[in-house]
Amino acid sequence: MSNSAQINVDGNTYELPVIEGTENEKAIDISKLRGQSGVITIDPGFKNTGSTQSAITFLDGEKGILRYRGYSIEELAEKSSFLEVSYLLIYGELPTAEQYANFKKDITRHTMVHEDVKKILEGFPSVAHPMGVLSSLVCAQTAFYPESLDPNRSGEEVDLSIVRLIAKLPTFAAWSYKNQIGHPVNYPDNSLDYASNFLKMMFANPAENFDVDPVVADALDKLLILHADHEQNCSASTVRIVGSSHASMYASISAGINALWGPLHGGANQAVIEMLENIKNDGGDTKKWMAKAKDKDDPFRLMGFGHRVYKNFDPRARIIKKAADDVLEKLGVNDPILDIAKGLEEEALKDQYFVDRKLYPNVDFYSGIIYRALGIPTDMFTVMFAIGRLPGWIAQWKEMRENKEPIGRPRQVYTGYNERSYTDIGQR
Ligand code: SDX
Repeated sequence: MSNSAQINVDGNTYELPVIEGTENEKAIDISKLRGQSGVITIDPGFKNTGSTQSAITFLDGEKGILRYRGYSIEELAEKSSFLEVSYLLIYGELPTAEQYANFKKDITRHTMVHEDVKKILEGFPSVAHPMGVLSSLVCAQTAFYPESLDPNRSGEEVDLSIVRLIAKLPTFAAWSYKNQIGHPVNYPDNSLDYASNFLKMMFANPAENFDVDPVVADALDKLLILHADHEQNCSASTVRIVGSSHASMYASISAGINALWGPLHGGANQAVIEMLENIKNDGGDTKKWMAKAKDKDDPFRLMGFGHRVYKNFDPRARIIKKAADDVLEKLGVNDPILDIAKGLEEEALKDQYFVDRKLYPNVDFYSGIIYRALGIPTDMFTVMFAIGRLPGWIAQWKEMRENKEPIGRPRQVYTGYNERSYTDIGQR
């Protein structure tokens, strides 16, 4: 075998193939290990385990590289648009002018949702977290489009589901916000671009005229690009494993939304702002909170810091940090928690605990500061992450299904009781 690894177990040696990707990443293919040796591998959190081979997104955590289908995140954030990036991630190539025009037209035409969505919304108390509402409304699409449950639908039918999801997610998100604050919902305005339409549905109200600020719309479109995909993160892996049972795209994406909700994942952007607010209200003593983050007996973590893959700066954090300065200046917003965030970053980058563990600001550290300046409420921050990540989830689901990957079903090592006999205690 040209490239292989050997594993020695109980005196027996097993030779396993080593595969290599287009960026020279290597992996030991253990798909036949148990059949050969009766032995499995174990890796809680999959820190050293690849779940698939994918052509969608490439990360280099040591060098801080992120590329969607080979294009760098820096170029795409500067030159592209969220819908163009969505097409690239899902279909593998940048669209031609005609493909892009048709994609935008189709999405614009599907921004409306069934009127019965209002009845579902009205069933939620105003305290409902928007992420729970969003995952419920996405899964409810299986009821409005029951044909989507057929795992053997044609490419065109899958494309229609893709368009419907990308088109309707902003409507669901804005409507959940309006329902939360007791305002009437705003219907989509198909004369507007994707980001502007979302902002108008979010913030327009019948009592006054509303014009979308192009600075805000441009900043939002850039943020959506930066969140669009990130290879096999927790929520993308969730979408793939749910979809591997041949559950519908809507059910798989709904599961991904719930995985993203967690504060260790996409929920971190909300947790960062809450943390910065706490530090500000506590007098701004960043050294005290840094000490808490390093104290093993203290559950406090510096939210927005650290990453499973990036052991260098998250390239998205670098772009967002610069955008935060630009957007707040253009909007004339002076937010004291931006200074607290910069102070924390400065201290962490020279603190041995953080340096030793290679903990850098991640995508969530500065994004909330921009969302706040754009007027997005804090508990909607992770919803914004979900809107951005949707094309990535769709691309991952589509690749998994097109590659006919098997149902995900990990093995385990049992650590419970050995066999024992039932004793009737006579109480039943
Ligand atoms: C996202 O995977 C992706 O790609 C995700 C994402 C995407 O685009 O999909 O990039 C989006 O989820 C970004 C991450 C957002 N989460 C946070 O900001 C929450 C705070 N960060 C962490 O909890 C943590 O860093 C994780 C969850 C992001 C990563 O955790 P790992 O890889 O499991 O690492 P770990 O928890 O084992 O930490 C290693 C060490 C530990 O210390 P020791 O036991 O070695 O002494 O670093 C410490 C941890 O205690 N550590 C932190 C810390 N993060 C890690 N200590 C203080 N503050 C932190 N933020």
